[in-house]
Order: sequence, then structure tokens, then C-alpha cells
Amino acid sequence: MEGLRRGVLLAATALLFAAVMLPEVAAVRYIVGSSKGWSSSVNYTIWAQDKKFYNGDWLFFVYDRNQMNVLEVNQTNYENCISDHPLHNWTTGAGRDVVPLNITKTFYFISGNGFCFGGMKVAIHVLNPPPPPSASPMKSSSPPSLPSAFRSRIFVPALFAVAAVWDSLLLLL
Ligand SMILES: *[C@@H]1O[C@H](CO)[C@@H](O)[C@H](O)[C@H]1NC(C)=O
Ligand SMILES: *[C@@H]1O[C@H](CO)[C@@H](O)[C@H](O)[C@H]1NC(C)=O
Ligand SMILES: *[C@@H]1O[C@H](CO)[C@@H](O)[C@H](O)[C@H]1NC(C)=O
Ligand SMILES: *[C@@H]1O[C@H](CO)[C@@H](O)[C@H](O)[C@H]1NC(C)=O
Repeated sequence: MEGLRRGVLLAATALLFAAVMLPEVAAVRYIVGSSKGWSSSVNYTIWAQDKKFYNGDWLFFVYDRNQMNVLEVNQTNYENCISDHPLHNWTTGAGRDVVPLNITKTFYFISGNGFCFGGMKVAIHVLNPPPPPSASPMKSSSPPSLPSAFRSRIFVPALFAVAAVWDSLLLLL
């Protein structure tokens, strides 16, 4: 009986620990352009400027596959909207492209077919991940403005839910 109780207590402690710790290290999947997706009605400079992208996060491009695409280019070609020689063509054909931000650098994405000239371009500055949370996550002395504290509020399942809503919206179009 004693062993069982200890086991339950251990499991509960582990669960509580996981609930506290997991959001701190979870990678974030950003829907580029949020609810408007990858389209010509978003200023992506403004969309990106209040976000911190970390190595390990993901970008999710949602768009009209018959018109736009997702091309990673270098800085020169980003500035001049030249899509002829992309560094990486992320277009899969479904209008739903996932890009892992797995290198600490600035990624430059444009849409070809002329849409870059209309503003469909985004530069994503990827930072090293924030330092791991300290041994005591409940510590009241850590200021709430730390990046890790900020990221702990981002609820990844919620982002997937947003993506699901997006999918059903686009099906209606
Ligand atoms: C980008 O690539 C083009 C060739 O497509 C090259 O001429 C240019 O020098 C490159 N720019 C940078 C910053 O690497
Ligand atoms: C990118 O890849 C897609 C899918 O393979 C292809 O249809 C498209 O022509 C490519 N675009 C460029 C600019 O390479
Ligand atoms: C980053 O992801 C791409 C696409 O999955 C892969 O080709 C590349 O090897 C990865 N780079 C690193 C440094 O993990
Ligand atoms: C996006 O907004 C920035 C900052 O307000 C502005 O400088 C830039 O010209 C805008 N870009 C487009 C394509 O409208």
C-alpha cells in the first residue's frame, strides 16, 4: 500500500512538473500572417516585428496554392523580389507549407508570380533559444518580461486549433 501511494505521489509530482516545464521549452508554430495567412493584404514587416523567433520554431504558410508560393531567397533577392534562383523552394503544392527555423540566421521568404512586389515578403530573424528555465520555475524574483516567461504563455495546441479553423474557412471559399 505504501509503495502504491508513493508511486501515485511520484506520478502526480511528475505530471505537475511537466505541466509547469513543458510550455517553457515547447517550439512555437507561427502561422505567417496569423488569421490572414500568406496573402497580399498583410504587411509582414509589421506582422513579424513584435515576435521573437527561436531556433526550433516553425513557420506555417497558408495560402491560395493556385496563385502564390513560398520561396526562400537571399537578402539581395528579397529586397529586389527576384524569384528565379531561390535558395530553397518550400512550395509543396498544397498551399500549406511548413518551414523549420532550424538555423540561427535571418530567413528571407518571398512569393513568386509577382506577389513579392505587392508586399508578400517576410524577413524572419531567428535567435538562439532562450536559456532553459531555472530549477525553480515558481521563483517570484524572475521578472515576467523574460522571453522564457513570454513563451510559456504561448499555448501550442491553440495554434493548431487556429490552423484547423483556417482550414475549414478556406474550404468554404
Ligand atoms: C544572392 O544571390 C544572387 C544570385 O541569385 C547573387 O548574385 C547575390 O550576390 C546574392 N546575394 C547575397 C547577399 O548573397
Ligand atoms: C517550386 O516547387 C513546386 C513544387 O515542386 C513547383 O511546382 C514550382 O515550379 C517550383 N517553383 C520554383 C520557382 O522553383
Ligand atoms: C533544417 O531543416 C531542413 C529541412 O527539413 C533540412 O534539410 C536541414 O538539414 C536542417 N538543417 C539543420 C541544421 O538541421
Ligand atoms: C510595412 O510597414 C512598414 C512600417 O510601417 C513600412 O515602412 C513599409 O513600407 C510597409 N510595407 C508595405 C509593403 O506596405
